[in-house]
Amino acid sequence: MIETNFAFVLPAAALLCFLLREVWKQHIHLQSLRSSARETCFRARLDSLRSRRGQNEAVDVLLNLIEQDGAGQWPPLVVYDDWPSALQPYKDIYHEVVPQLSSSSPLLDDDTLIARRESFRSHMRELLKERIDLLEVERLLNAAEAGNWTSLRREQLNGVYCAVAVLRHAYRWATIPVVKVAQAETVIDFPVELDSAWAPLQRYFGCAAESGNNTANVLYNFTPDGNRVFKINIGQSDEIVSSEEAFFRMFYDIEALARIVYIDMVAAIVAFEENRKADSLRRLQQLKPRLDKIYQIFYDGLVDAKVSRKVWLSYCQGFQGWGVGRVIDGRHVKYDGLSGNHVLIFQAIDAFFGMERYLIDENMIRYIPVRQREFTSVLRRHSIRAQIEKGEYEEIRAEISTLVQAMRVFRATHRTRVIPYLKQPAPERLIMTAGKSILENQDTNGLEDALAPLNKMMTTRLQETV
Ligand code: HEM
Repeated sequence: MIETNFAFVLPAAALLCFLLREVWKQHIHLQSLRSSARETCFRARLDSLRSRRGQNEAVDVLLNLIEQDGAGQWPPLVVYDDWPSALQPYKDIYHEVVPQLSSSSPLLDDDTLIARRESFRSHMRELLKERIDLLEVERLLNAAEAGNWTSLRREQLNGVYCAVAVLRHAYRWATIPVVKVAQAETVIDFPVELDSAWAPLQRYFGCAAESGNNTANVLYNFTPDGNRVFKINIGQSDEIVSSEEAFFRMFYDIEALARIVYIDMVAAIVAFEENRKADSLRRLQQLKPRLDKIYQIFYDGLVDAKVSRKVWLSYCQGFQGWGVGRVIDGRHVKYDGLSGNHVLIFQAIDAFFGMERYLIDENMIRYIPVRQREFTSVLRRHSIRAQIEKGEYEEIRAEISTLVQAMRVFRATHRTRVIPYLKQPAPERLIMTAGKSILENQDTNGLEDALAPLNKMMTTRLQETV
């Protein structure tokens, strides 16, 4: 019989564990060195931008965005600690009600769903009524709106914007997955505590919608150390929880890389307009690898292994939808929810190329914060391509063309990647996207037909990207 000596197994395993731990520690150490190097680089670039304040409107508008909506940082600084006590309940109430929002049980009948919705909403109404001191909330938010930051700091206001936005979305749906009886609603009366806080917040950020937007619901939902504060699905399967996390984190990670791109874009414009063409070209050359990394987050991130197609539509997308509104002068005004089309970097890239906007005016005003709108407008007004005469600065023109080509690849990939997510069966609801609301009516002939206008929008935008 062959005898095996196992005496070496334990020490070898211990050694392996030790080595793995050391490698992991080194990896973490390197990551933190890299991230602090990136931070130092960003700070230095921001300081150099500040030294040029007043010399070019593109500089001023970008600084304005970072200093006001970002509270001096980008991605925006958002602080969830030490809030004035009158605002704290908004955060607490979300955490208290959200475990009842999402359900893993099979589809229920309409009456049960309506009862469940009423129970969720009435619980939320009671908590808000009991704990919110409306007068104090209004005083704090009005002071912030007037530019007085003594009681509530900018970075805290960003968190309040997110808390009130996600509470409104939770109240709107009251059940996740989104179901037909909730989609059938056209007008919802929100608790006064959610309306009176929303109005000054929307005025401050310059958005007109009753629904939230990508900045409020997604970007401001991250703390400086990268924690997502308000989750949607609590106690659901790992597949649901990890898909939700991976999906929303993509937006934050993209914005973290975009901040240096915004500075590069402005620097390229300023150099071009000050007739430092070689400098402008150098900035443009820096943009290509940086933008590639941004697109790569999408290419690597929106895959079935990370964001499961099976659960995305029912558990991640629905919450960010809206599809209700108000009757004004006899006309029903309906608002939509969130879409990738709200994301700043993609709007900035188009504007930098001098392309027309993707969103119509009405949607810009409803869903895109005013200082982001000002930033993309300034990029469009100062677009380098629009300032080049035929036959001039061929190297600059060629460099911008490579950037346009990369954006085309993103758009083509986005289109093919997202369709299977939208085609997942979700029998509990009517066909809907968060950003465009319900897509079917009595004339719609199946899923393909309902999705056709979206396909067309994406294809048209791809064709316009030249
Ligand atoms: C499964 C996930 C996704 C689906 C189903 C989806 C679907 C769509 C659809 C149908 C549109 C066209 C209609 C509209 O404007 O709302 C669109 C637009 C857009 N989406 Fe997505 N999307 C997804 C994820 C993302 C992500 C992760 C990003 C980027 C971080 C993104 C960025 C954009 C942009 C920038 C547009 C505007 C059109 C354009 O600029 O080409 N999307 N998306």
